[in-house]
Amino acid sequence: MPTASGHAHGELRRETDMLDYFDTNPKPANLDRQITLARTFIEQHAKDGRRVALVTSGGTTVPLENQTVRFIDNFSAGTRGATSAEYFLQAGYAVIFLHRQFSLLPYSRHYSHSTNCFLDFMTHNGAGAVVVEHEYQHQMAEVLSRYREVKRNNTLLLLPFVTVNEYLWLLRGLAMQMQPLGAKGLFYLAAAVSDFFVPAERMVEHKIQSSEDFHEKAGHGDGERQPAAHMEDKRLVIDLDPVPKFLKMLVDRWAPRSMIISFKLETDPAMLAVKSRYALEKYSHHLVIGNKLNTRKWEVLFVTADGGERWIRVPAGRRTKGITGASGDAVEDAEQREPAVEIESIIVPEIAAMHTALINKWESDETRK
Ligand code: PMT
Repeated sequence: MPTASGHAHGELRRETDMLDYFDTNPKPANLDRQITLARTFIEQHAKDGRRVALVTSGGTTVPLENQTVRFIDNFSAGTRGATSAEYFLQAGYAVIFLHRQFSLLPYSRHYSHSTNCFLDFMTHNGAGAVVVEHEYQHQMAEVLSRYREVKRNNTLLLLPFVTVNEYLWLLRGLAMQMQPLGAKGLFYLAAAVSDFFVPAERMVEHKIQSSEDFHEKAGHGDGERQPAAHMEDKRLVIDLDPVPKFLKMLVDRWAPRSMIISFKLETDPAMLAVKSRYALEKYSHHLVIGNKLNTRKWEVLFVTADGGERWIRVPAGRRTKGITGASGDAVEDAEQREPAVEIESIIVPEIAAMHTALINKWESDETRK
């Protein structure tokens, strides 16, 4: 059982780790430019009184070499983030979409998935022009008009990351920029963030040589510790450091007045509620959305600070034929199918309503002061 002083000690260590992180891992080259873009975007929407959601999406990578040939990746196509971003925009939010480069994007996601190539929607019209096939006209016209409106109103800012280092620097920088929004800022952390990484001081410069004839020539890190990824007896040994838990810093320091929502991904159904509740209690934010890998498009678990646990599900009548498991049991083969309704169309309005309640509460607390 952790003691109160042990707990406080742990907290302190987490904070120190996070502060050390930014002292010892290099600032990305284009960070300042990205933050400037975000500042202009946030200022415009703050002036208009609009809420701003930072939606994170896709997986972060962990490079094994400075001049990166090999890297470790995290699972996420960016579907959750890109789909949710569209529904936040529909709900009147301005959205900063912090996404893994080349992962799915709002609007274009409808036509760029590997099973959804845009060319399959096109045809020749016989007069030399390329047009959208008749059967897809209606859906594409709808997506196009929503996309155009977002462009016209400048309500969507796309900011890419690749590595976990870029992600952490950006998240911190963006959170600082969002502070003036106060309660109108919202963080929706759907990205799959690496838990382990190669710190800069243990990163080799050049491609790790697999042939032992060249081992001696391979570059080593400048630090005293052995490079995190190196060859030993023809084996590649990878020894990673833990990524400091940034969520605590986000909640306590970087975005203390914003609504913060994190996701919890599990594969074992027995772990989902337990781990989601644990995360909420550990970080003291507003909502954890638990999802299982193979049913994440069909059902998610909302775990809130008031002790509540609530399943959000695609309504039974709207499930694709053959899908069962409304009870939360395994939904067989769900990965291969698409639900008739996007679950994010239910998740996001629920969150917007919770956000309204929080803003009202914070405002009435302010007036009572
Ligand atoms: O894009 P799709 O293919 O649709 O997939 C979407 C998804 C399944 C990836 C998404 O819905 C999801 O669950 N995202 C979160 C996955 C994840 O990273 O879980 P985690 O257990 O590693 O992290 C949980 C939380 O801890 C995260 O919200 C993260 O903000 C936080 N964290 C993570 C790592 C770290 N070093 N510090 C943190 O604070």
